[in-house]
Amino acid sequence: MSANLGQQLRADAAWVLYQILEKGMSSKQALGQRLPDYEGRDRAWLQEMVFGCLRTLPILQFWLRGLLDKPLKGRKKILEHLLLVGLYQLAYSRVSEHAAVSETVGAADLLKGTTLKALINAILRTFIRENVQETLPESPAAQAGMPNWIFKSIQANYPERATEIIQASNEKAPLWLRINPAYISTTDFLAQLENMQIEAQLSDIHPDAVICSRSGDVTRFPGYDEGWFSVQDGAAQLAAHLLDLQPHQRVLDCCAAPGGKTAHILATQPDLAECVAIDSDPHRLVRVEENLERLQHTATLICAEAQRIDEWHGGELFDRILLDAPCSATGVIRRHPDIRWLRQASDIAPLVSIQAELLQQMWQILKPGGKLLYATCSIFPEENAQQIQAFVEQHPEAELIEMPSQIMANNTSNNAMGLQILPGTGNMDGFYYELLHKPA
Ligand SMILES: C[S@@+](CC[C@H](N)C(=O)[O-])C[C@H]1O[C@@H](n2cnc3c(N)ncnc32)[C@H](O)[C@@H]1O
Repeated sequence: MSANLGQQLRADAAWVLYQILEKGMSSKQALGQRLPDYEGRDRAWLQEMVFGCLRTLPILQFWLRGLLDKPLKGRKKILEHLLLVGLYQLAYSRVSEHAAVSETVGAADLLKGTTLKALINAILRTFIRENVQETLPESPAAQAGMPNWIFKSIQANYPERATEIIQASNEKAPLWLRINPAYISTTDFLAQLENMQIEAQLSDIHPDAVICSRSGDVTRFPGYDEGWFSVQDGAAQLAAHLLDLQPHQRVLDCCAAPGGKTAHILATQPDLAECVAIDSDPHRLVRVEENLERLQHTATLICAEAQRIDEWHGGELFDRILLDAPCSATGVIRRHPDIRWLRQASDIAPLVSIQAELLQQMWQILKPGGKLLYATCSIFPEENAQQIQAFVEQHPEAELIEMPSQIMANNTSNNAMGLQILPGTGNMDGFYYELLHKPA
């Protein structure tokens, strides 16, 4: 029997899951190798199967453990991922039972699992027949689709909001766009989207933002090639405003790739003396170059470890520095559901230490009278409020600047220090900002 589209999609979902969960590849990388083969609804369905499995993984694995006598090993391992895809469809999607079973069993051929087709068929049918779906793992973390350590950390740090944060982290993220008003107004852009039957709305927080209820292939949206808009979550759109950019300033974006905030800085203040964008990852720096080119901006790009200032800094100080630090990314789990499985508890301490080093070094090259904006897409206080607390203890001269009140209205955390946006607040990603002033 030749493979049909439905089988191919299931086989690809299993392949992508295998790359993420067994090989440690990010969902962006793994999906990036398969999504281009599809369009429209098929593309969305492939992504939904993968993201859905990642969001419910501990439950799917609990069911599978009860159904499979012994784990599949070696080259057959990928068929376990195909089974997860099968169980996900049966438990959480609107696909009919018949289609879910037959397309998943058929997909086994494409994954060189022909000899196990009968087993896959039997497992999926037992799942239906015995109502396995009604039993859930005991652990609350597993029920919430989270690893224990993230679940516990959220509960410990946000005892009153833990359920809400976890729920928001399991939801599908909306597609936020930032429109460049130099090219088109948000209302005109919205009208063009409506003509294409793309549902979208304006934001009450950001004048330049448009929020689409579903994601789509943005390269087909109006004005993509002309640089009318960028994809940028609402929380990330705050950075350029908080920086309070003035003409003729020298600005440094020291962890810049893929360049979302660099581009916003340049759009917000086109009369800067210079904007320097650094990233330590050469491949990601190419993305900055491409993004800036499409959006018709220019910056000085440098590939370097920003904290090694002797290796790249010529001596001239900066009026503004954006330090969008490498972090746990626990604020953006709704957008990247793989993060919860790829990040480990042991990653946090090294991240906290590189963030501290970056802060120390960037402070050295900030002009007296200048401002440094520290940002992460984390919800862990170690990387955020506690990080800043430690910094100001070492640098008592650093002044914390209060966030503008319309933005603070969205500050839903109980941290005294900085702006901690929790996932889902104002439809945004989880994010942290603190603005530091260096007295003249
Ligand atoms: C959170 S992302 C930045 C996102 C970016 N600001 C944007 O809005 O598009 C963090 C970036 O820091 C870079 N990075 C990590 N360690 C670095 C270092 N020591 N120096 C410079 N860049 C670093 C990573 O390669 C990654 O691209």
